[in-house]
Amino acid sequence: MSVDPVELRAVASRMASGVCVVTVAWRGTVHAATVSTVLVLSQDPPLLGVALHEDSRVAEALEDEPTWSVSVLADDQGSVADWLASPGRPVLGQLDRVPSTAARSSSARWLTGAAAWFDCRTVQRHVVGDHVLVVGDVLVAEEGAPTVGALVHLRGRTPGVR
Ligand SMILES: Cc1cc2nc3c(=O)[nH]c(=O)nc-3n(C[C@H](O)[C@H](O)[C@H](O)COP(=O)(O)O)c2cc1C
Repeated sequence: MSVDPVELRAVASRMASGVCVVTVAWRGTVHAATVSTVLVLSQDPPLLGVALHEDSRVAEALEDEPTWSVSVLADDQGSVADWLASPGRPVLGQLDRVPSTAARSSSARWLTGAAAWFDCRTVQRHVVGDHVLVVGDVLVAEEGAPTVGALVHLRGRTPGVR
């Protein structure tokens, strides 16, 4: 018999993870969502995966649009993570209050001041329980400024570390 999902969530909260934002251009706007399930799955070939809840709008957007971007949030971007995880936020204008620039090789955006950025093109999708694992060929990987730290997710909080 499997563990209770609520217990799994509580125990898993003890695993520190980086906090990222996935962006995808969709239906005339740029959709963005906070994610922590981002993994470099393979170096050669370069493959990056992100696990998205089956009900999330960003998962739906990625069914339509093959290219997407990931911004690895910096230690001072906790408010961005909170905003792009808030339920019921409007689809339109999600990045109006978040400085961003055009991505290099996707139709999405890079969040300004992030610790790193990736542009990807979807090559595989796997349904994994209540999530969809979207696997992308990494088209571009770029580091941010060397002084920028990282935002981590640990025990339900997102402190910054350097
Ligand atoms: C620190 C943090 C990490 C998160 N990681 C994920 C994740 O990996 N996958 C996911 O589907 N949702 C994740 N979420 C929840 C989404 O950000 C949230 O459900 C968001 O509203 C989804 O946007 P959408 O429904 O517009 O796609 C995370 C939230 C936080 C605060």
